Amino acid sequence: MIGIFDSGSGGLSVLRALHERAPMLDVVYFGDLKNMPYGSKSQSELLELTENAIQVLQNANATQIVSACNSVSASVVRVTPAMENIIEMVGPAVRSIAHKGIVHVAVAATPATVESGMYQKEFVRAGIRAAMIACPELAAAIEREDDTTAQQIIDDVVARAIVTGADALLLACAHYPLVREMFGNKITVIDPADAVADEIITRYGAIGNGVLKFLVSEKSNSFQKRVENLFGVNNCINCIEDR
Ligand code: DGL
Repeated sequence: MIGIFDSGSGGLSVLRALHERAPMLDVVYFGDLKNMPYGSKSQSELLELTENAIQVLQNANATQIVSACNSVSASVVRVTPAMENIIEMVGPAVRSIAHKGIVHVAVAATPATVESGMYQKEFVRAGIRAAMIACPELAAAIEREDDTTAQQIIDDVVARAIVTGADALLLACAHYPLVREMFGNKITVIDPADAVADEIITRYGAIGNGVLKFLVSEKSNSFQKRVENLFGVNNCINCIEDR
């Protein structure tokens, strides 16, 4: 069983890419809605939340863990030796940008991801110029389905990305691809979920019984709606506080 976590609905963008490619893979997803947004938390707070998320997933029989949260991937997973087996977002995202031959990228991300310096370091190592754009309010606006606020922030992000002269805009927060259409087509937009899904399948294969389970730390109608829309299921979401 693969265990995937994020602060809320964001990691569903990674699960969507994985489920499209490997519908038989058994997955348990944990959305830590009670503690969302992760992107404004300190590294030590994120470490504690990551350890808790891993425990929640292991209690649900996950044997392999995926951090579908860029904030956690960049500031915790990649700098914690005990977490080196966890599949994270930064490596696959940077490799996919390099693979596409992009030499100058704008990176939209949470403050925690930007402050970690991890994307900047990895893009320098890959010989790619990166312009970081921190979006403090965007993930939370997407989570609560505040489309007006999300669109305003996204319009500003796209305009800033274009001003940098970048060839593409990397969506380095798993929430952003959930509203991919709001980013329009003025600049090439890259969702790293595909690359992360490929990495999961390369490492763990695609065989299983097609089990999909969802855990949340707080009930949310919009999470439930997204799960129904993306995966066509509505009876497999449990709140860990109710158990
Ligand atoms: N979706 C997460 C990320 O990829 C975190 C968003 C948040 O909770 O701030 O960074």
